[in-house]
Amino acid sequence: MNAGDPILVADKLTIRHGQLTAVHDVSLSVAGGELFAVVGANGAGKSTLLRTLAGLHKPTAGTITLAGEDITRLSPDRRVRRGISLVPEGRRLFLSMTVEENLLVGGANGRPGSWTADRVFELFPWMRSRYKEQTAHLSGGEQQVVAIGRALVANPRVLLLDEISLGLAPVVVKRIYETLPALLGTDMAVLVVEQDVAQAMRVAGRFQCLLEGRTTLEGKPSDYTAEQVEAAYFGFGSAVESWSG
Ligand SMILES: Nc1ncnc2c1ncn2[C@@H]1O[C@H](COP(=O)(O)OP(=O)(O)OP(=O)(O)O)[C@@H](O)[C@H]1O
Ligand SMILES: [Mg+2]
Repeated sequence: MNAGDPILVADKLTIRHGQLTAVHDVSLSVAGGELFAVVGANGAGKSTLLRTLAGLHKPTAGTITLAGEDITRLSPDRRVRRGISLVPEGRRLFLSMTVEENLLVGGANGRPGSWTADRVFELFPWMRSRYKEQTAHLSGGEQQVVAIGRALVANPRVLLLDEISLGLAPVVVKRIYETLPALLGTDMAVLVVEQDVAQAMRVAGRFQCLLEGRTTLEGKPSDYTAEQVEAAYFGFGSAVESWSG
């Protein structure tokens, strides 16, 4: 595979929760080394899509391929072993465990590779001194970073981040986002889901907007004005902060 080749491809995914169709016929393609954002309002289907990519939910139609291999029917743990790691909405750490234990669990379930606890500490130096601490004692932002670290030590080819900004102070969110470009090695792709469109647009190379489970806009952030994204996001005009300048 060459850098820039699609690594994760979803083709015409339709995903239901019982009678409700949460995602309608959505396709996306994320390349190695790319930061791709999925944006959309509450209930747009973002988490449903991400959880389906991670294998936690089955699509009713469509396929998912990883590096050309059909993984639509693989279990979540086998997807982790092939290189898909999800940081779910709400962090979901093992709160009774220490930072160290969380990282050990992440590493044990993943693939071999260059991401170790030490490399995570290089990225987030504060973590080294809190290694033995129970994650329940950390701040929300620190827990979020541990959740990202736990996903990284599984050495993903594709890292899925679901609303990492949720419930965190803007300055903490900014700091976490500033580390994302450092994650984009030659082979790793990062797919972020965000309600904070301006934040996502500042960092993403490409994005896709969902509205009520359908793709309403896709491309590069620079291809569109804030007003166009706003219309795709809400279905009509409202206030989305500008991400340029
Ligand atoms: N487990 C579930 N059972 C039934 N319906 C669900 C379930 N999970 C999500 N839904 C519904 O599916 C739709 C999409 O929800 P989803 O959580 O994927 O949206 P989202 O874009 O992640 O929203 P948010 O920004 O609030 O996290 C919503 O209408 C939601 O109510
Ligand atoms: Mg969600």
